Amino acid sequence: MTVLKNDKKSPNVVWHESQVTRDMRESQNGHRGAVLWFTGLSGAGKSTLANAVEARLHAMGVHTFVIDGDNVRHGLCADLGFSDADRVENIRRVAEVAGLFVQAGILTLTAFISPFRADRTQARKLLGNAFVEIHCDTSLDVCESRDVKGLYKRARAGEITAFTGISSPYEPPEHAEIVVQTGSQTIAQCVDEIMQWLVAQGMIHTEGEV
Ligand code: ADX
Repeated sequence: MTVLKNDKKSPNVVWHESQVTRDMRESQNGHRGAVLWFTGLSGAGKSTLANAVEARLHAMGVHTFVIDGDNVRHGLCADLGFSDADRVENIRRVAEVAGLFVQAGILTLTAFISPFRADRTQARKLLGNAFVEIHCDTSLDVCESRDVKGLYKRARAGEITAFTGISSPYEPPEHAEIVVQTGSQTIAQCVDEIMQWLVAQGMIHTEGEV
C-alpha cells in the first residue's frame, strides 16, 4: 500500500491501489490509454478536430472520450472564469481528470485553449508519455475572421474581458508532438495527419485493424 501524504487540505488520506490495473484495462481494450491534448486559440478548430479524430478512432473500435472546454465549464469547472488563476485551475483539473481516463485505458482527447505554457508543461509532467500535445496552429486573424461564436467581436468591443489573443495571452507550444494548420488545411487533412502519427507511434494499429 502506498501511503501518499497530501500536504494540502486533507493530510490524512491514504492511497488505495485498485485491483484492476491500467495494464489490465489497456490489454482488454487492445490499445493504450493516452491524452491527445489539443491547444490553440478560440475558434482554431480544437473541438471540431478532436471530435472528428474521435469519430475515426471510435469507428475502429478504440475506446475514446472528448473532454471539451466549453462543456466542462458547464459542470466540473462551472465555478471558474477566465482570470489567469482560474485558467490555471481549469487546466489543472482537466489534466487530473484526463489522468483518470488514462488509468481507465481510454484514448482521451482534450480541447482547451490552455493558453499558458507552464500549465501544459505541468499536464505533461503529470501524464508522462501518455501526453501528446497537438497545436491547432491558426492565426488570430483567421480565428477572428471566422468568429463562429461572435466572441471576438464582443471582446474587441470591450464586452468580454481577458479574451485570449485580444486581452489575454496565448503562449504557443515550442515542442508539440503534432502541429496542424487548422487555418489552411481541411479538418479531414488534419485528421489524417493525426491518425498517421498515432499509427507511426504504435498507439493504434492501421485503420480497420484494432
Ligand atoms: S482556457 O483558457 O481555460 O483553456 P477553455 O478552453 O476552458 O479556456 O474555454 C474557452 C472557451 O470559452 C472559448 O472557446 C470561448 O467559447 C469561451 N470564452 C468565454 N470567455 C472567454 C475568454 N475571456 N477567453 C477565452 N475564451 C472565452
